[in-house]
Amino acid sequence: MKPFSAIRAFGFSVAVGQCLAATTQGVSDNIYNRLVEMATISQAAYADLCNIPATMTTVKKIYNAHTDINGWVLRDDSRQEIVIVFRGTGSDTNLQLDTNYTLAPFDTLPQCVGCSVHGGYYLGWTSVQAEVESLAQQQANKYHDYALTVTGHSLGASIAAITAAQLSAIYDHVRLYTFGEPRTGNQAYGSYMNERFQAASPETTRYFRVTHANDGIPNLPPAEQGYVHSGVEYWSVEPQSPDSMFVCTGNEIQCCEAQGGQGVNDAHVTYFGMTSGACTW
Ligand SMILES: *[C@@H]1O[C@H](CO)[C@@H](O)[C@H](O)[C@H]1NC(C)=O
Repeated sequence: MKPFSAIRAFGFSVAVGQCLAATTQGVSDNIYNRLVEMATISQAAYADLCNIPATMTTVKKIYNAHTDINGWVLRDDSRQEIVIVFRGTGSDTNLQLDTNYTLAPFDTLPQCVGCSVHGGYYLGWTSVQAEVESLAQQQANKYHDYALTVTGHSLGASIAAITAAQLSAIYDHVRLYTFGEPRTGNQAYGSYMNERFQAASPETTRYFRVTHANDGIPNLPPAEQGYVHSGVEYWSVEPQSPDSMFVCTGNEIQCCEAQGGQGVNDAHVTYFGMTSGACTW
């Protein structure tokens, strides 16, 4: 059963036509506004969804006490969309997940052959899997024309990616927007994600991996430990505007990662001028 439908295309008019170039500058206003909206929700997830867009209603909270994974299922009737958002690191319990770089076989998704993912985040995912899948199913049953989107920042970004991988095996056209995402899995996982989310080109991708300036978290865990990125990178630099976004495909170390940041820094906690949980937007 594949009840969630394709979302209306958000006009993939990336400046500079015919794909394949590794880096292009500028995105359409539609894409920019969409990335800002998803960043708003992701940053609001650090503060119980403060100031999220008025079109969004909260369906249900996702929570596991053992891993302290926090998320929400939201619904936007104006856009006919279900959005699942995960909070980033908010506790020592979360930090223990962040620092567990052991690659874990992605056993909950056997379709992803040879895939391993970040061991800490895999524990996070499996702690909420039953709840997430059952909530998605409830929403799919009730709102079968709606699109399904997953988003989050930092730890929340990787949990979002693993969730989207899993849900994309059940539902068509799942969309994924991550902000300051750590490397989430091995090469087999990265290739699977790129294929599932049509991330070979910005014209087709449903996986928007948003980075900012020299955010140091996308450089972790190190590529030398068997980790890769996936999705199309949307690199945002100052001053924040559609014209100062770069769309980067094809290389492991480019755009944000090439700036050499390591770990949590100013660029990591602020996306599009919004700081995690600050609620000043
Ligand atoms: C790290 O992750 C692996 C794989 O998920 C898990 O087996 C192991 O127990 C975790 N280690 C700690 C200290 O939590």
